[in-house]
Amino acid sequence: LVIFTFLDAGNGSRFNQEAEDPIKRSDFPPGFLFGAATSAYQVEGAYLEDGKSLNNWDEFCHSKGCAEDGENGDIADDHYHLFMQDIEMMHSLGLKAYRFSISWSRILPSGRFGEVNPLGIRFYNNIVDNLIHKGIEPFVTIHHNDLPQELEEKYGAWLDPQMQDDFVHFAEICFKSFGDRVKYWVTINEPNLVSEMAYERGDYPPNRCSQPFGNCIAGNSDVEPLFAMHNMLLAHGKAAKLYHDKFQLTQGGLIGLVAHCFMYEPLTDSYLDQKAAERAMLFNIGWSFDPPIFGDYPQVMREYHGNNLPTFSADEKEFMKNSIDFIGINHYSAIYTKDCMNSSCTETANRAIKGFVEITGERNGVPIGDPTSMPRFFVVPRGMEEIVNYFKTRYNNTPMFITENGYSSPHVQDVKVEEILNDFKRIEFHQTYLASLAEAIRNGADVRGYFIWSLMDNYEWAQGYNNRFGLHYVDRETFDRVPKLSGRWYQEFLKENGHVD
Ligand code: NOJ
Repeated sequence: LVIFTFLDAGNGSRFNQEAEDPIKRSDFPPGFLFGAATSAYQVEGAYLEDGKSLNNWDEFCHSKGCAEDGENGDIADDHYHLFMQDIEMMHSLGLKAYRFSISWSRILPSGRFGEVNPLGIRFYNNIVDNLIHKGIEPFVTIHHNDLPQELEEKYGAWLDPQMQDDFVHFAEICFKSFGDRVKYWVTINEPNLVSEMAYERGDYPPNRCSQPFGNCIAGNSDVEPLFAMHNMLLAHGKAAKLYHDKFQLTQGGLIGLVAHCFMYEPLTDSYLDQKAAERAMLFNIGWSFDPPIFGDYPQVMREYHGNNLPTFSADEKEFMKNSIDFIGINHYSAIYTKDCMNSSCTETANRAIKGFVEITGERNGVPIGDPTSMPRFFVVPRGMEEIVNYFKTRYNNTPMFITENGYSSPHVQDVKVEEILNDFKRIEFHQTYLASLAEAIRNGADVRGYFIWSLMDNYEWAQGYNNRFGLHYVDRETFDRVPKLSGRWYQEFLKENGHVD
C-alpha cells in the first residue's frame, strides 16, 4: 500500500487510500487460487521453431492481415525462449497459479494426421515442471483459439463434426503427457466468442462473416456460429468424458470449460429491454453452460432459432450432462442490452446469434462505466458480483473460477513508458472488481480462484499490440519485461500481512 501513496501524483486517483480500506487477500478464503493468465499464440512466438507447424492464426495473419496494427504473433512476447525468466517473474509476484494454453500445432503439427512432436511436449514439460518447482499451480487450457492450419484446410475445422474427435485425440495426448502434474484443465477457451468472431463478425480465422466487409468471406451466419459452437461443445463433452472415465481417478484433477461472460443489463426499464437482457444472458451464458451442465441448450434458444439450432442425440445429452467440474468465467464488462425483436435497431450484424438484441456501452450519452481501450469493455465493478450470482443461481452453485479479468490501456505512440508503468487505473480496476467478487463469495458463491489477464502485455488478436492488459510492460524491441505499478500492487496484495496459503 505504501507504494501507492508515494507514487500518487496527487491527481485525485483513489490510491491515496488507506482510509478507504481497500480489498485484502484475507477477504478471500485461504487456499483461494490467485493467478495470472496468458495463451500460447498471444505470448509464445517461435512460430516455426522446433517442429511447430502453421496454425490458423499464423495463416490468417500472414495472408490477410489479422490485426489493426498489421502485427502478428510470430514473435509475440518471445515467451518460448524467455519462459524461465517469466516463471521467475511469476514467482516473485507471489502467484499461486498460472493459466496458460497449449499450442495444438506445436504438439501435433499436422493435426490428427501425424506424429506427436517431442519438442513440443518437452517445451510444456519444462513449463509445468518449473512452475511446480516454484510452487505455482499449472492451470492449463487445451485449446485457446489456435489450431493446426491443416485441420482448417482439410475440412474446415470447427464447422465439421470430425473436429470433435480430433480435439479429443489432442486432449488425450495432453492428459497422458502432463496430467500427472496438471490438476486443472480447461478444454476450450471462450467457444461462444470464437463462434461469433470467426463465423459472424469475420475478425478471427477463418474470417467468415454475415455482412461482407473488408476482405472477410460471406458465409451463412444464421447457422455457422451455431454449428461451430455445437462441435466445440461436443468436443468438450467427449474430452471431459475421456478425462472422467480414464484419467481422473488416477490423476486426481478437475476439468472445466471457460466462456466469455458479459453481464447484460437492460438499456431502459421497459419490459422489452428487460426481456432482451434476460435473453442475452441465455443466448450467451446459457448457450455455453446449459449443455455441459443440463445436457441441452436453453429452451428459449430453440424457440427462436428453430431448426437452425443443432440437436444433441440422447446419447450425447447423457455425456454432456455434468461434463464439467467447474465453470470458468472470463469477465471484463457489463453492457446495456436493447430489444431488437419488437423495436428497431441500428446494428447490422446478425442479431439472431445474440438473441435479437443490440448491445451498447452508453445510455443517453453516458457510458455504463469508464471506457477502456477495448471497444466493448467498460469498467463496471458491480458486474462481477452480478455475474457470479447469476451463475450461482442458474447452475446450483457449481464451483467457479474467474479465469480472466483485466483492464486494457491503449498503446499510444510516443507515450512515455513511465506513464504506462504508473497504471493506477488498472490497480483501481482490480481492487474494485475484487471487492465485488468478495461480496459474492461472502454471500455464498463457490468461487475458488481469480486470474488476472494478463501476466504481461501481449498480442491481443484483432487489436494486435495496441491494447495492453499486462501487469508487466513488454518492450517490443528488447522484450524486456518491466513490472508496472499494478504488478507491484498485486505482489503486495498477495503477501499482505505475511499471509501464507
Ligand atoms: C479473453 C481471451 O481469452 C483472451 O485471449 C483475450 O486476450 C482477452 N479476453 C482480452 O480480450
